[in-house]
Amino acid sequence: DSGPKYDFVIVGGGTSGLVIANRLSENKAITVAVIEAGDSVFNNPNVTNVFGYGRAFGTHIDWAYQTEDQEYAGGSKQIMRAGKAIGGTSTINGMSYTRAQSVQVDAWELFGNKGWNWDSLFPYYQKSEMFQIPILNQISRGADYYITYHGMNGPLKVGWPTEITNRTMLPALDQTFNQLGVTFNRDVNGGSMVGLTSHPNTVNSEENVREDAARAYYWPYQNRSNLKIITNTSANKIIWSSNSHSEATAVGVEVTTAHGVETIYASKEVILSAGSLKSPVLLELSGVGNPDILRKYNIPIKVNISTVGENLQDQTNNGLSYQGTEFWLGSPTFSVLPSANQIYGNNVSNVASYVNSSMAEYAKVVSNSSKGAVQEANILAAFKLQYDLIFESQVPFAEIVLLPIADSFSSEYWPLLPFSRGSVHIKSANASMPASINPNYFMFKQDLDAQVDVARFIRKAFMTAPLSDFVGDEYTPGMENLPDSASDSQWDDWVKSNYRSNFHPVGTASMLPRNMGGVVSPELKVYGTKNVRVIDASVLPFQLCGHLTSTLYAVAEKAADMIKKQYRL
Ligand code: FDA
Repeated sequence: DSGPKYDFVIVGGGTSGLVIANRLSENKAITVAVIEAGDSVFNNPNVTNVFGYGRAFGTHIDWAYQTEDQEYAGGSKQIMRAGKAIGGTSTINGMSYTRAQSVQVDAWELFGNKGWNWDSLFPYYQKSEMFQIPILNQISRGADYYITYHGMNGPLKVGWPTEITNRTMLPALDQTFNQLGVTFNRDVNGGSMVGLTSHPNTVNSEENVREDAARAYYWPYQNRSNLKIITNTSANKIIWSSNSHSEATAVGVEVTTAHGVETIYASKEVILSAGSLKSPVLLELSGVGNPDILRKYNIPIKVNISTVGENLQDQTNNGLSYQGTEFWLGSPTFSVLPSANQIYGNNVSNVASYVNSSMAEYAKVVSNSSKGAVQEANILAAFKLQYDLIFESQVPFAEIVLLPIADSFSSEYWPLLPFSRGSVHIKSANASMPASINPNYFMFKQDLDAQVDVARFIRKAFMTAPLSDFVGDEYTPGMENLPDSASDSQWDDWVKSNYRSNFHPVGTASMLPRNMGGVVSPELKVYGTKNVRVIDASVLPFQLCGHLTSTLYAVAEKAADMIKKQYRL
């Protein structure tokens, strides 16, 4: 055991990992190391520029994970983007700051995670946040809020970009969507998300630069002598104690640096925060997972948890776009979050009963496609919850982002709660080899229908005054390609050839009771281990209606408190 040694070793200096690193290293007696494959992007304009969404895609700071052929979605592969940098995916994301519908977080507790509910998470949303109150010019353009929802003293700056799209836009959108039954929601961050809104972003409003996990949680604290970030270094696997303990006990992490392979030792814990497409892979490489998979690659089985890497849930993103009749300056921050009732109107009960009658079959398909790793009863229970959220609780059914920029008016949208379930698993015992990532997009007809139904709703909105006055021809999909008379199957084809990942993968190391398919406990500890946790998007057991980072920051804040409590720090 000659390598460097720390109390806590965190794998992944991303959105979640830096929160943990920051909070644990507040105690000077504790040493913390963060292993990060990427490097600093503090001065990278593709990161800092608030208008720069997309510029980092395909560059060296984008993992650009490739999926397997998507057999239910036209057959081609998809790219799943994720940040490779100090700050992780928060350095390349869309910066939207929206939390979740309260009942979705309450569901975590209903499914056996004691202490995890909206009310207990809410103080942690606030703890992480430094809300920047919008100035009059921003308020006149739609920025709105309830101050009681927000935290004023946290590290993460949340607010609006300096320049928001002109002031006539929001009233026009409001008038339009009112006619479609969707009313204005002043602040979606209080647990009630349905409506038209001008949501805040993770942005430093004063300097007009992106706010990311590194700027919030790392750079101002980089001089702490007990906090060490080890960059350009990839974790390969957990190293276990060779003593026979009843639970698997981690002693460190094997890493590959520019100089070769070494071990970084942890005297207390190893925490995986490598993201939902990597943390489960690291578990498998370390011998924690489905024995059928581990045996294939001659990895000794340390803990048998068949659901490691299963339960992968992502959304699918698509868009309609129009010629604009004006020229728009500034950053738009308008989203519409309609409920199923609002999307489907009188038809909602037909859709609900179709979904209701399909779920048993869907559960069978998911279980079979996982070769039994996911139990039918467990996935059926998750589907029933999802049905209740969509059709009883009426959580948002889709997010529609409205983008009047320069001379075009486009939209991006994604149905929020797809039923498709996929997986991420190793394809080799060699950590440098890519994993097999399969989200199974459009595995179920309902997911494809949802995509089409929301597209039709958006087209209807763009044809409704006064929004209709702002647009000319439809560029995408285009009336000549898909006239209003187009059939469902023509729409299906368009969706399959135009969709992309919404980059919100969750669930691959779910926080759930072990007999319900969980990988981590309510303390986020990996079952069967003494001192390994997963803290990142992998642990969210169900997809959320909010963008993910706000909730991930809150989850990591709460997890840090639990760790401190356990060790009396
Ligand atoms: P995250 O990816 O942040 O961190 C993982 C870290 O681990 C990375 O730094 C990675 O380099 C490192 N790592 C991985 N493997 C490693 C290894 N073997 N060794 C060492 N280091 C390793 N959310 C939101 O709230 N608002 C939004 O607008 C958007 N928009 C958006 C757009 C795009 C393009 C993407 C890709 C994502 C979003 N999201 C988003 C989603 C959100 O950004 C995302 O879910 C979280 O940032 C994920 O945080 P995690 O902590 O799970 O992983």
